[in-house]
Amino acid sequence: MKTDRTFELKQALLNKYHSAIDSAADTPGKSGFVDLTANQSSSDKLNKAMYDNSQSVEIYRNFLNWLFGTFNVEEMDFRRDCFERLGNITGKKILITSCGLGEDIKVAAMLVGKDGFVHAQDLSRHFISLAADKYSAENIVLTVSNALDLPYKDGYFDAVFHFGGINLFGDIGLAISEMNRVCKVGGTILFGDESVAEHLRADDYGKMFMENNALWQEKVPLEHLPLCASDISLSYVLGNCFYLIKFTKSDQLPYADIDIEHVGYRGGSVRKRYFGKIEGIAPDLKNSLYELAKKEGKSVSRIIEELIKTRL
Ligand SMILES: C[S@@+](CC[C@H](N)C(=O)[O-])C[C@H]1O[C@@H](n2cnc3c(N)ncnc32)[C@H](O)[C@@H]1O
Repeated sequence: MKTDRTFELKQALLNKYHSAIDSAADTPGKSGFVDLTANQSSSDKLNKAMYDNSQSVEIYRNFLNWLFGTFNVEEMDFRRDCFERLGNITGKKILITSCGLGEDIKVAAMLVGKDGFVHAQDLSRHFISLAADKYSAENIVLTVSNALDLPYKDGYFDAVFHFGGINLFGDIGLAISEMNRVCKVGGTILFGDESVAEHLRADDYGKMFMENNALWQEKVPLEHLPLCASDISLSYVLGNCFYLIKFTKSDQLPYADIDIEHVGYRGGSVRKRYFGKIEGIAPDLKNSLYELAKKEGKSVSRIIEELIKTRL
């Protein structure tokens, strides 16, 4: 092992949180985790009420057993399959947001190996405390913190993983942008939650699940992906009732040459058709313009540019 948990956590955290791990009562070495919760919205309070008490564990485990039983999937096989979608993560630094009772920590720790690090966080102190008892190793670092205000540095992790909580976050876009922020450029973000696939929604199969729990009616939050996300993939798991979105963090928009001219009647380029739109003209003049373009074998865009240049 290259380093210890306290050192690793300090490396990963934003400076403003360093004093929290300097306090003797709350070092990862002692309790197994650090509590860094600060800001909480009303939806965070709702989530805490649901997941941060002694009954939460039994209720949540019952739900997981029902879920994996319903779709006839071995839970740990499923969790491993999700992580393997990140590619080879041996030796990598991984963040799991909203890790719940921590089952994914076990899988991730196995896959990163002894030279990697698994950081995991959840809003529920109760869940994190249980996870810290179960999954304790020098390369597993836990925090009680908010997925909507992650305490970690920009670009620190090789991959960020989330499953099963995002539908109930007050601000899904913010949760995705936080996962993107803490991931390095070229790193991978993978997240998923309930959403019955569109093609099943009109059938009794889909309707049963959407009736069973309104969360299954949620839409896949593709509109919240960062502008620069690349290699985006969407897949469905667990009876096509959960989506998984995977993308690579990039710092550039997709490449496009927007100045290549279209060959043909309208002419223009992507840039000209979008940024070069002009005001309306009399319909008979417009018809004459199109006739002229046809007669001269030029595009309408070219004729307009030529005409305008004669006056400018
Ligand atoms: C349905 S559980 C999913 C747990 C785990 N990912 C799994 O696969 O079993 C949702 C989890 O999200 C956590 N959560 C809710 N709001 C959160 C927030 N704002 N920040 C971090 N975790 C949150 C809850 O405490 C709970 O553990």
